[in-house]
Amino acid sequence: GMSRIQLNVNGVERTVDVAPQMVLLDVLRNELGLTGTKKGCDQGQCGACTVLVNGQAINSCLSLAISHQSDEITTIEGLERDGELHPVQQAFWEHDAFQCGYCTSGQIMSAVAVLNDDRIGQSDAAVREAMSGNICRCGAYKNILAAVQDARK
Ligand code: FES
Repeated sequence: GMSRIQLNVNGVERTVDVAPQMVLLDVLRNELGLTGTKKGCDQGQCGACTVLVNGQAINSCLSLAISHQSDEITTIEGLERDGELHPVQQAFWEHDAFQCGYCTSGQIMSAVAVLNDDRIGQSDAAVREAMSGNICRCGAYKNILAAVQDARK
């Protein structure tokens, strides 16, 4: 049967009825209407579905919604503040860090997590490694890296 759970999404408490096998990605997109998070492979291999859970980047296609009671979930819709883009969003815009855009919200969420994690080095190689789970089929990696490094400033 369904379970009623509370999720804190982008600072708002949301109540949602979920089946035990429903993944966070599908709840965000289909139950909560947050379609900025994308479904690519649906198998944990592309990163298009990346969201933050308590500040850590996860693949929401692999994570059961029911396991996220009382977690703080941030999606791409939750990054702007008072109508201003998040610095990482701004940097992606300025550096043209996308082509088709399908991977972009996942790339941005991973970048936010990388920049907030002191354990990850600041070199290009360290950033590339930390974001290696986010695939860009258009090959915009050079501009993505430039954007992430610029957003650090
Ligand atoms: Fe989740 Fe590809 S859709 S990793």
